[in-house]
Amino acid sequence: MELQLKELQLEIDQDSCIQCRACVQDCPYAILELAPDYPAVIPDRAEQCIECQHCLAVCPTGALSILGFEPEGSLPLKGIFPTEEQLSGLIRGRRSVRRYKATPLEPEVIDAMLATVAHAPTGVNNCQCLFSVVEDQEVMKRIREQTIAGIRAKAESESLPSGLEFFAGIVRAWDEGNDILFRGAPHLLLVSTPKQGPSPQVDPIIALSYFELLAASMKLGTLWNGLAKWAFMDIVPEMLPRLGIPEDHSLGYLMLFGQPAVQYFRTVQRAPGNVRRVVF
Ligand SMILES: Cc1cc2nc3c(=O)[nH]c(=O)nc-3n(C[C@H](O)[C@H](O)[C@H](O)COP(=O)(O)O)c2cc1C
Repeated sequence: MELQLKELQLEIDQDSCIQCRACVQDCPYAILELAPDYPAVIPDRAEQCIECQHCLAVCPTGALSILGFEPEGSLPLKGIFPTEEQLSGLIRGRRSVRRYKATPLEPEVIDAMLATVAHAPTGVNNCQCLFSVVEDQEVMKRIREQTIAGIRAKAESESLPSGLEFFAGIVRAWDEGNDILFRGAPHLLLVSTPKQGPSPQVDPIIALSYFELLAASMKLGTLWNGLAKWAFMDIVPEMLPRLGIPEDHSLGYLMLFGQPAVQYFRTVQRAPGNVRRVVF
């Protein structure tokens, strides 16, 4: 959506603006100028605004409002970032959780997590990730059962797609009481984006990566669910409309989450990443 000048609602509190040009310099699409004393939108550039609000965030005195957002509504950043040690510990110590307590999370907890994850970056700030979350345990049960029933039908008619024949084993495990596909998790989060968006492959993965780390910081478990993604995309695609994924969206990825029924006491030990210095 292209914004017209008046819709940007750029407002400058002239008593607190120190004319430092920080907003002008930080605007990624160079739509601001000092005109001549205070920041203003360059009229024919208004439609370039991607609504990133960098101007609001970078103003040292909180003199700038835009798009109806006032600086008082923002979280001050002083002292709120985790230390490098804390964040490194979180990244190293997070684990894929494959055992969950049956008790679901409070809806408010899930809402707060998703409100935070809405701050994950998206290409050109498109902010179009759709977070489809399964909260209700009856819904989760139906999803499990219908997914397995659909896979079973394909397995029994020997029409599992080539390379995915091993899903017959997942059905056998289910019959023996072993839920390999959904790991007994109480919640599922599917992130989709419009197929025509600027970065449909990447935005959901970033959002889920942030969700995973946030969950770990709250001592909640998550599991990237590649098996269910294969199932939904290639074996039981009828599940996607049932799950409410819009037809013009592509499913980026999905993640199980909930209270873990397992605790880890130390990190695993991995070789340092495969790093090389580019010589040009
Ligand atoms: C894209 C992706 C898809 C995954 N899909 C599954 C899955 O379907 N089932 C599963 O049990 N684990 C899945 N995993 C978890 C990986 O097996 C796990 O990340 C890896 O073994 C390392 O363990 P860690 O996450 O505890 O460090 C997936 C991980 C990623 C990143």
